[in-house]
Amino acid sequence: MNKVFIATSLDGYIADKEGQIDWLHSIPNPENDDMGYNKFISTVDALIMGRTTFETVLSFGIDWPYEIPVFVLSTTLKAIPEELQEKVELTKGSPKEILEMIHSKGFDELYIDGGTTIQGFLSQDLIDQLIITTIPVLLGGGSPLFGTFDQRLSFQHVRSSRYLDCIVQNEYLRKKNES
Ligand SMILES: NC(=O)c1ccc[n+]([C@@H]2O[C@H](COP(=O)([O-])OP(=O)(O)OC[C@H]3O[C@@H](n4cnc5c(N)ncnc54)[C@H](OP(=O)(O)O)[C@@H]3O)[C@@H](O)[C@H]2O)c1
Repeated sequence: MNKVFIATSLDGYIADKEGQIDWLHSIPNPENDDMGYNKFISTVDALIMGRTTFETVLSFGIDWPYEIPVFVLSTTLKAIPEELQEKVELTKGSPKEILEMIHSKGFDELYIDGGTTIQGFLSQDLIDQLIITTIPVLLGGGSPLFGTFDQRLSFQHVRSSRYLDCIVQNEYLRKKNES
């Protein structure tokens, strides 16, 4: 199963016009509610992320935050930093080719992250679950979660949760028998 767990602005952006994501943490969260993140991460066994998202994580300057193997997609990145070489693998190709390679390594429950990366998988109807957390802010531009693609894709709504009195999270599953 290929899964998305991502936060967007009300107008559907995952980063602002400057590529910043500070607005994700603009709502006071005194008890550090993880809004379902740890529960979600326990359902996946590997992460596929785009190069921009990888560089954002590196820019935080924190310890590497993932315990599962991470596959970074890029056509331009030449190498992974030395200290991450056991944890991160660089790859490229079509979404189908990437999935075949990762499945052959025994990983089937996959977290797909990064706007362009998610759009590439959606364009091939390769996303099964969407968990979208909506932050009540309009950014007016930035990196969109969704782009254009050819076919209509229907999803079944599974759950809504409300966090911190203002953040709504919706979970959807792809209805495979419907376009
Ligand atoms: N709000 C949230 O929860 C959230 C979550 C994740 C990320 N973000 C933010 O969203 C922004 C990232 O968005 P983004 O649209 O730039 O997307 P991205 O998917 O993180 O990165 C896009 C890059 O990934 C590479 N790529 C994607 N598909 C590929 C493929 N099939 N084969 C080879 N390379 C592939 C390309 O890198 P090359 O150019 O090197 O070829 C492409 O330019 C960042 O600012 C990040 O911080 C926000």
